[in-house]
Amino acid sequence: MTTRTFKLGDREVNRLGYGAMQLAGPGVFGPPRDEAAARAVLREVIDSGINHIDTSDFYGPHVTNRLIRDTLSPYHQDLTLVTKVGARRDDQGAWLPAFSRDELIRAVHDNLDNLGLERLEVVNLRAMFSAHEPAEGSLEGPFTVLAELREQGLIRHLGLSNVTAGQVEEARRIAPVACVQNQYNLAHRDDDALIDQLAADGIAYVPFFPLGGFSPLQSTTLDQVAADLGAHPMQVALAWLLQRAPNILLIPGTSSVAHLHENLTAATLNLPDHALAALERIAGVQP
Ligand SMILES: NC(=O)c1ccc[n+]([C@@H]2O[C@H](COP(=O)([O-])OP(=O)(O)OC[C@H]3O[C@@H](n4cnc5c(N)ncnc54)[C@H](OP(=O)(O)O)[C@@H]3O)[C@@H](O)[C@H]2O)c1
Repeated sequence: MTTRTFKLGDREVNRLGYGAMQLAGPGVFGPPRDEAAARAVLREVIDSGINHIDTSDFYGPHVTNRLIRDTLSPYHQDLTLVTKVGARRDDQGAWLPAFSRDELIRAVHDNLDNLGLERLEVVNLRAMFSAHEPAEGSLEGPFTVLAELREQGLIRHLGLSNVTAGQVEEARRIAPVACVQNQYNLAHRDDDALIDQLAADGIAYVPFFPLGGFSPLQSTTLDQVAADLGAHPMQVALAWLLQRAPNILLIPGTSSVAHLHENLTAATLNLPDHALAALERIAGVQP
Protein backbone atom coordinates (compact mmCIF):
# COMPACT_ATOMS: atom_id res chain seq x y z
CA MET A 1 0.00 0.00 0.00
CA THR A 2 1.33 3.48 -0.88
CA THR A 3 1.75 6.16 1.79
CA ARG A 4 -1.25 8.44 2.18
CA THR A 5 0.48 11.81 2.62
CA PHE A 6 3.40 13.86 1.30
CA LYS A 7 4.86 17.22 2.21
CA LEU A 8 3.66 20.28 0.29
CA GLY A 9 5.68 23.25 1.51
CA ASP A 10 5.72 22.61 5.26
CA ARG A 11 2.33 20.90 5.39
CA GLU A 12 1.63 17.21 5.17
CA VAL A 13 -1.29 16.82 2.72
CA ASN A 14 -3.27 13.78 1.63
CA ARG A 15 -1.88 12.54 -1.67
CA LEU A 16 -5.37 12.47 -3.10
CA GLY A 17 -6.45 16.07 -3.55
CA TYR A 18 -8.82 17.85 -5.89
CA GLY A 19 -8.43 20.11 -8.95
CA ALA A 20 -11.14 22.79 -9.18
CA MET A 21 -10.72 23.75 -12.85
CA GLN A 22 -13.71 21.68 -13.99
CA LEU A 23 -16.03 23.78 -11.81
CA ALA A 24 -15.97 26.79 -14.17
CA GLY A 25 -18.14 26.93 -17.27
CA PRO A 26 -17.47 25.16 -20.58
CA GLY A 27 -13.90 25.78 -21.77
CA VAL A 28 -13.04 26.87 -18.19
CA PHE A 29 -14.74 30.15 -19.10
CA GLY A 30 -17.64 31.82 -17.34
CA PRO A 31 -19.88 30.47 -14.59
CA PRO A 32 -20.67 26.78 -14.07
CA ARG A 33 -23.72 25.36 -15.84
CA ASP A 34 -25.10 24.40 -12.41
CA GLU A 35 -23.71 26.47 -9.54
CA ALA A 36 -25.49 24.46 -6.84
CA ALA A 37 -23.91 21.26 -8.21
CA ALA A 38 -20.47 22.90 -8.26
CA ARG A 39 -20.86 23.95 -4.62
CA ALA A 40 -22.04 20.45 -3.69
CA VAL A 41 -18.83 19.01 -5.19
CA LEU A 42 -16.70 21.43 -3.15
CA ARG A 43 -18.55 20.59 0.08
CA GLU A 44 -18.12 16.89 -0.63
CA VAL A 45 -14.40 17.42 -1.31
CA ILE A 46 -13.99 18.71 2.24
CA ASP A 47 -16.38 16.19 3.81
CA SER A 48 -14.36 13.41 2.13
CA GLY A 49 -11.22 14.48 3.98
CA ILE A 50 -9.41 16.09 1.04
CA ASN A 51 -7.10 18.83 2.32
CA HIS A 52 -5.42 20.00 -0.91
CA ILE A 53 -7.32 21.93 -3.60
CA ASP A 54 -5.74 23.25 -6.77
CA THR A 55 -7.22 26.36 -8.34
CA SER A 56 -6.39 29.58 -10.20
CA ASP A 57 -7.90 32.98 -10.68
CA PHE A 58 -7.68 32.43 -14.44
CA TYR A 59 -10.28 29.63 -14.19
CA GLY A 60 -13.41 31.47 -15.21
CA PRO A 61 -11.63 33.93 -14.78
CA HIS A 62 -12.26 34.43 -11.03
CA VAL A 63 -15.09 31.87 -11.06
CA THR A 64 -13.55 28.89 -9.27
CA ASN A 65 -11.78 31.03 -6.67
CA ARG A 66 -15.00 32.84 -5.77
CA LEU A 67 -16.93 29.57 -5.68
CA ILE A 68 -14.30 28.15 -3.32
CA ARG A 69 -14.41 31.25 -1.09
CA ASP A 70 -18.21 31.47 -1.02
CA THR A 71 -18.64 27.76 -0.35
CA LEU A 72 -15.72 26.87 1.92
CA SER A 73 -14.63 29.95 3.85
CA PRO A 74 -13.95 30.32 6.68
CA TYR A 75 -11.55 27.58 5.68
CA HIS A 76 -10.69 24.51 7.69
CA GLN A 77 -7.19 25.18 9.06
CA ASP A 78 -5.98 21.90 7.57
CA LEU A 79 -6.93 22.95 4.00
CA THR A 80 -4.10 23.84 1.61
CA LEU A 81 -5.22 25.96 -1.34
CA VAL A 82 -2.74 26.08 -4.21
CA THR A 83 -3.14 28.67 -6.94
CA LYS A 84 -1.20 29.71 -10.00
CA VAL A 85 -0.31 32.89 -11.85
CA GLY A 86 1.37 33.68 -15.16
CA ALA A 87 -1.60 33.56 -17.54
CA ARG A 88 -4.70 35.60 -18.23
CA ARG A 89 -7.83 35.18 -20.32
CA ASP A 90 -9.05 37.48 -23.06
CA ASP A 91 -12.71 38.29 -23.79
CA GLN A 92 -13.08 35.13 -25.84
CA GLY A 93 -11.49 32.90 -23.21
CA ALA A 94 -8.09 32.52 -24.93
CA TRP A 95 -5.14 31.81 -22.60
CA LEU A 96 -2.43 34.48 -22.81
CA PRO A 97 0.88 34.97 -20.96
CA ALA A 98 0.79 37.44 -18.05
CA PHE A 99 4.40 37.52 -16.95
CA SER A 100 5.14 41.20 -16.39
CA ARG A 101 5.91 42.44 -12.89
CA ASP A 102 2.61 44.37 -12.74
CA GLU A 103 0.56 41.46 -14.02
CA LEU A 104 2.09 39.06 -11.50
CA ILE A 105 1.57 41.43 -8.57
CA ARG A 106 -2.02 42.05 -9.66
CA ALA A 107 -2.63 38.32 -10.07
CA VAL A 108 -1.41 37.58 -6.55
CA HIS A 109 -3.68 40.30 -5.13
CA ASP A 110 -6.64 39.06 -7.22
CA ASN A 111 -6.09 35.54 -5.87
CA LEU A 112 -5.94 36.88 -2.31
CA ASP A 113 -9.17 38.86 -2.79
CA ASN A 114 -11.12 36.19 -4.63
CA LEU A 115 -10.08 33.41 -2.26
CA GLY A 116 -10.62 35.67 0.75
CA LEU A 117 -7.13 35.10 2.17
CA GLU A 118 -4.45 37.32 3.68
CA ARG A 119 -1.68 35.00 2.52
CA LEU A 120 -1.54 32.39 -0.23
CA GLU A 121 -0.20 29.01 0.90
CA VAL A 122 1.33 27.98 -2.46
CA VAL A 123 1.57 29.93 -5.71
CA ASN A 124 2.75 28.20 -8.89
CA LEU A 125 4.30 30.23 -11.67
CA ARG A 126 2.68 28.84 -14.83
CA ALA A 127 5.18 29.10 -17.69
CA MET A 128 3.65 30.19 -21.00
CA PHE A 129 6.56 30.03 -23.47
CA SER A 130 4.30 27.41 -25.03
CA ALA A 131 0.77 27.24 -23.63
CA HIS A 132 0.49 23.48 -24.08
CA GLU A 133 3.87 22.03 -23.12
CA PRO A 134 7.06 22.97 -21.32
CA ALA A 135 9.39 25.07 -23.48
CA GLU A 136 12.76 26.58 -22.64
CA GLY A 137 13.03 30.25 -21.67
CA SER A 138 14.28 32.04 -18.58
CA LEU A 139 11.91 32.32 -15.59
CA GLU A 140 14.35 34.45 -13.62
CA GLY A 141 12.41 37.73 -13.93
CA PRO A 142 8.90 36.48 -13.04
CA PHE A 143 10.09 34.02 -10.39
CA THR A 144 12.10 36.79 -8.72
CA VAL A 145 8.92 38.90 -8.54
CA LEU A 146 7.10 36.04 -6.80
CA ALA A 147 10.08 35.49 -4.48
CA GLU A 148 9.80 39.17 -3.45
CA LEU A 149 6.07 38.77 -2.74
CA ARG A 150 6.97 35.73 -0.66
CA GLU A 151 9.49 37.80 1.28
CA GLN A 152 6.75 40.38 1.86
CA GLY A 153 4.57 37.66 3.41
CA LEU A 154 1.87 37.47 0.74
CA ILE A 155 2.87 33.92 -0.26
CA ARG A 156 4.20 31.08 1.92
CA HIS A 157 5.58 28.73 -0.75
CA LEU A 158 6.37 28.86 -4.46
CA GLY A 159 5.93 26.27 -7.16
CA LEU A 160 6.26 25.97 -10.92
CA SER A 161 3.99 24.70 -13.67
CA ASN A 162 4.52 23.66 -17.30
CA VAL A 163 8.28 23.75 -16.86
CA THR A 164 11.44 21.98 -17.97
CA ALA A 165 14.04 20.44 -15.65
CA GLY A 166 16.35 23.37 -16.51
CA GLN A 167 13.72 25.89 -15.42
CA VAL A 168 13.28 24.04 -12.11
CA GLU A 169 17.03 24.33 -11.50
CA GLU A 170 17.01 28.02 -12.45
CA ALA A 171 14.12 28.78 -10.08
CA ARG A 172 15.67 26.83 -7.20
CA ARG A 173 18.69 29.15 -7.37
CA ILE A 174 16.31 32.07 -6.68
CA ALA A 175 13.97 30.64 -4.01
CA PRO A 176 12.87 27.24 -2.66
CA VAL A 177 10.48 25.33 -4.95
CA ALA A 178 7.78 23.41 -3.07
CA CYS A 179 6.13 21.69 -6.03
CA VAL A 180 6.12 21.22 -9.78
CA GLN A 181 2.83 20.88 -11.67
CA ASN A 182 3.21 19.48 -15.19
CA GLN A 183 1.14 17.30 -17.50
CA TYR A 184 1.70 13.63 -16.70
CA ASN A 185 -0.41 10.48 -16.77
CA LEU A 186 -0.33 6.84 -17.88
CA ALA A 187 -0.11 7.85 -21.52
CA HIS A 188 2.01 11.01 -21.21
CA ARG A 189 5.33 10.18 -19.59
CA ASP A 190 7.69 13.00 -20.64
CA ASP A 191 8.50 13.81 -17.01
CA ASP A 192 9.64 10.37 -15.84
CA ALA A 193 13.20 11.52 -15.14
CA LEU A 194 12.11 14.84 -13.60
CA ILE A 195 9.74 13.06 -11.19
CA ASP A 196 12.53 10.82 -9.94
CA GLN A 197 14.86 13.80 -9.50
CA LEU A 198 12.23 15.75 -7.56
CA ALA A 199 11.44 12.69 -5.42
CA ALA A 200 15.13 12.44 -4.51
CA ASP A 201 15.03 16.13 -3.51
CA GLY A 202 11.78 15.82 -1.50
CA ILE A 203 9.82 18.13 -3.83
CA ALA A 204 6.17 17.37 -4.61
CA TYR A 205 5.21 16.59 -8.21
CA VAL A 206 1.57 17.34 -9.01
CA PRO A 207 0.49 15.97 -12.41
CA PHE A 208 -2.15 17.95 -14.21
CA PHE A 209 -4.47 16.02 -16.53
CA PRO A 210 -3.93 12.91 -14.33
CA LEU A 211 -6.94 11.32 -16.02
CA GLY A 212 -6.06 12.63 -19.46
CA GLY A 213 -7.76 16.04 -19.13
CA PHE A 214 -10.82 17.21 -21.04
CA SER A 215 -11.02 13.88 -22.87
CA PRO A 216 -10.25 11.28 -20.19
CA LEU A 217 -7.85 8.42 -21.04
CA GLN A 218 -9.14 5.79 -23.43
CA SER A 219 -7.12 2.59 -23.56
CA THR A 220 -8.16 -1.02 -24.03
CA THR A 221 -5.19 -2.04 -21.85
CA LEU A 222 -6.38 0.23 -19.06
CA ASP A 223 -9.94 -1.07 -19.42
CA GLN A 224 -8.69 -4.69 -19.32
CA VAL A 225 -6.50 -4.14 -16.25
CA ALA A 226 -9.41 -2.42 -14.51
CA ALA A 227 -11.84 -5.20 -15.41
CA ASP A 228 -9.41 -7.87 -14.13
CA LEU A 229 -9.16 -6.04 -10.80
CA GLY A 230 -12.88 -5.31 -10.57
CA ALA A 231 -12.05 -1.59 -10.57
CA HIS A 232 -12.91 1.49 -12.63
CA PRO A 233 -10.35 2.59 -15.28
CA MET A 234 -10.04 6.07 -13.74
CA GLN A 235 -9.44 4.51 -10.33
CA VAL A 236 -6.63 2.42 -11.86
CA ALA A 237 -5.12 5.46 -13.62
CA LEU A 238 -4.93 7.32 -10.30
CA ALA A 239 -3.70 4.29 -8.34
CA TRP A 240 -0.90 3.90 -10.90
CA LEU A 241 0.18 7.51 -10.27
CA LEU A 242 0.13 6.95 -6.51
CA GLN A 243 2.38 3.92 -6.95
CA ARG A 244 4.60 5.62 -9.54
CA ALA A 245 6.50 7.78 -7.00
CA PRO A 246 5.97 8.80 -3.35
CA ASN A 247 6.18 12.54 -4.12
CA ILE A 248 3.20 12.51 -6.53
CA LEU A 249 0.19 14.45 -5.24
CA LEU A 250 -3.05 13.99 -7.20
CA ILE A 251 -5.51 16.72 -8.16
CA PRO A 252 -8.04 14.94 -10.41
CA GLY A 253 -10.74 17.31 -11.58
CA THR A 254 -14.41 16.57 -11.65
CA SER A 255 -17.71 18.40 -11.63
CA SER A 256 -19.49 15.29 -10.34
CA VAL A 257 -19.87 14.03 -6.77
CA ALA A 258 -20.17 10.46 -8.07
CA HIS A 259 -16.86 10.74 -9.96
CA LEU A 260 -15.24 12.34 -6.90
CA HIS A 261 -16.18 9.30 -4.81
CA GLU A 262 -14.93 6.96 -7.53
CA ASN A 263 -11.60 8.79 -7.71
CA LEU A 264 -11.12 8.67 -3.96
CA THR A 265 -11.21 4.87 -4.02
CA ALA A 266 -7.86 4.96 -5.89
CA ALA A 267 -6.10 5.28 -2.55
CA THR A 268 -7.32 1.82 -1.53
CA LEU A 269 -6.38 0.02 -4.77
CA ASN A 270 -3.08 -1.84 -4.76
CA LEU A 271 -1.89 -2.65 -8.27
CA PRO A 272 -0.07 -6.00 -8.49
CA ASP A 273 3.17 -6.31 -10.50
CA HIS A 274 1.51 -7.87 -13.56
CA ALA A 275 -0.98 -4.96 -13.72
CA LEU A 276 1.85 -2.42 -13.37
CA ALA A 277 3.76 -4.13 -16.19
CA ALA A 278 0.71 -4.02 -18.47
CA LEU A 279 0.07 -0.34 -17.67
CA GLU A 280 3.71 0.56 -18.47
CA ARG A 281 3.09 -0.60 -22.02
CA ILE A 282 0.38 2.05 -22.60
CA ALA A 283 3.09 4.67 -23.09
CA GLY A 284 5.52 2.17 -24.63
CA VAL A 285 7.78 2.17 -21.55
CA GLN A 286 9.76 -1.05 -20.97
CA PRO A 287 9.00 -2.33 -17.47
N1 LIG B 1 -1.01 23.91 -14.44
C1 LIG B 1 -1.72 23.75 -15.52
O1 LIG B 1 -1.35 24.21 -16.59
C2 LIG B 1 -2.99 22.97 -15.47
C3 LIG B 1 -3.63 22.60 -16.66
C4 LIG B 1 -4.78 21.85 -16.56
C5 LIG B 1 -5.27 21.48 -15.31
N2 LIG B 1 -4.65 21.87 -14.17
C6 LIG B 1 -5.12 21.45 -12.84
O2 LIG B 1 -5.17 20.04 -12.83
C7 LIG B 1 -6.46 19.60 -12.40
C8 LIG B 1 -6.78 18.28 -13.05
O3 LIG B 1 -6.85 18.41 -14.46
P1 LIG B 1 -8.22 18.32 -15.26
O4 LIG B 1 -9.36 18.46 -14.34
O5 LIG B 1 -8.12 19.23 -16.38
O6 LIG B 1 -8.12 16.88 -15.90
P2 LIG B 1 -8.26 15.39 -15.31
O7 LIG B 1 -8.29 15.41 -13.83
O8 LIG B 1 -7.24 14.57 -15.99
O9 LIG B 1 -9.65 14.94 -15.90
C9 LIG B 1 -10.82 15.65 -15.72
C10 LIG B 1 -11.84 15.04 -16.65
O10 LIG B 1 -12.08 13.69 -16.25
C11 LIG B 1 -13.46 13.51 -15.97
N3 LIG B 1 -13.53 12.60 -14.82
C12 LIG B 1 -13.09 12.83 -13.55
N4 LIG B 1 -13.30 11.75 -12.79
C13 LIG B 1 -13.88 10.81 -13.57
C14 LIG B 1 -14.34 9.49 -13.35
N5 LIG B 1 -14.24 8.91 -12.15
N6 LIG B 1 -14.90 8.82 -14.39
C15 LIG B 1 -15.02 9.40 -15.61
N7 LIG B 1 -14.61 10.64 -15.88
C16 LIG B 1 -14.03 11.36 -14.87
C17 LIG B 1 -14.02 14.86 -15.70
O11 LIG B 1 -15.38 14.94 -16.07
P3 LIG B 1 -16.56 15.13 -14.97
O12 LIG B 1 -16.54 16.56 -14.59
O13 LIG B 1 -17.77 14.70 -15.73
O14 LIG B 1 -16.23 14.20 -13.85
C18 LIG B 1 -13.17 15.74 -16.61
O15 LIG B 1 -13.70 15.74 -17.93
C19 LIG B 1 -7.38 20.76 -12.80
O16 LIG B 1 -8.58 20.72 -12.09
C20 LIG B 1 -6.52 21.95 -12.51
O17 LIG B 1 -6.62 22.28 -11.13
C21 LIG B 1 -3.50 22.59 -14.24
